[in-house]
Amino acid sequence: MQNIAGAREFELLLNESVTAGDLLKFLTPPTHFSHSTFENFRPDIHHPSQLEAVHLLQRFVRQGPAQPRSFFNTLVGRAKPTAGRGVYLDGGFGVGKTHLLAAAYHAYEGRKAYLTFQELMFLVGLQRLDVTMSSLANYHLLAIDEFELDDPANTRIASTLLGGLMNLGVYVITTSNTPPGSLGKDRFSTGDFKRELTQLSERFIQVRIDGEDYRHTHHADDHTPQTWLRPEAAQALERFNGNSAQHLRLNFDELQQQLASAHPIRVRKAIEIFDALTISNLSAFTHPHDALRFVYFIDKVYDSDIQLMITSLLQPDELFPRSLTTGGDNKKYLRTVSRLTELTHTKSN
Ligand SMILES: Nc1ncnc2c1ncn2[C@@H]1O[C@H](COP(=O)(O)OP(=O)(O)O)[C@@H](O)[C@H]1O
Ligand SMILES: [Mg+2]
Repeated sequence: MQNIAGAREFELLLNESVTAGDLLKFLTPPTHFSHSTFENFRPDIHHPSQLEAVHLLQRFVRQGPAQPRSFFNTLVGRAKPTAGRGVYLDGGFGVGKTHLLAAAYHAYEGRKAYLTFQELMFLVGLQRLDVTMSSLANYHLLAIDEFELDDPANTRIASTLLGGLMNLGVYVITTSNTPPGSLGKDRFSTGDFKRELTQLSERFIQVRIDGEDYRHTHHADDHTPQTWLRPEAAQALERFNGNSAQHLRLNFDELQQQLASAHPIRVRKAIEIFDALTISNLSAFTHPHDALRFVYFIDKVYDSDIQLMITSLLQPDELFPRSLTTGGDNKKYLRTVSRLTELTHTKSN
């Protein structure tokens, strides 16, 4: 049975535009990371870089952005503010980068903002670079998740914006799957932007976090029902989530059509009104555009802590064929497989 009302509501919300005001209103970690702290981060003793990252970030939020700066002195030219600094956390997916980013955000008591790199770029597109700079210069600490330079335009924007903000004294912590030296590799000629990338990366302390995907090593217990099912098990699935208040049910084709109709930035607002989502007949992706829209969609489902159920003839790691995973986006597909595996308590091979 399809939930027509839910699907319609989702479609309407997806087609509502997102304003700069909408984005600026919610500069906090998403639901999934709303309770992430340094205390509930359990560093893996086999990978000392994890505990080192915790200590470094604790020092950074204690000492760094707490330094007072005076806008008045800056305005009258009496004193230059101390330039802000940055921490760049990089490592594989699932090692706890976003958890630590949210923990640093929560630990810091001054003016702070948390957003994804994608949201930051979208904000610049909506309201110009200088306006974005002045709205963000009000914060002492900026936490930016999933830093990524995938085209020459956002490289220039990122270096101008972050460079400008740091000159004003703003401190930045960011996470990325890519070490700073490899940003933009596989996508565009980094040669052209080497100077900009070097200038930007010199402002950051690079912290590499090693480790396993936490989602694999800390699996749900045996009593948690698996919600990645074969299509014939769909009825059990309906019963399983019979009591959810806001349930969105879409089949694979409907989901793809809906996602193709809107910019990915709108997904967060459209999905967070639901507490459960069923995708039926999930199949393999053939086109990278559809596959990437699904990647961003699952990111938001994960961030919003929505209960997810899937029926499919495939396993999570069979959704993205080799034709897609051999390109520069492979890490994104692996992230989605990892998140789907955690959300549906299934095991991928
Ligand atoms: N060492 C850890 N202790 C506690 N929870 C962790 C740890 N590492 C990761 N997690 C949890 O595992 C999940 C994946 O971590 P996340 O921070 O999203 O990884 P990344 O951003 O590196 O891909 C999150 O729910 C996070 O809270
Ligand atoms: Mg992350």
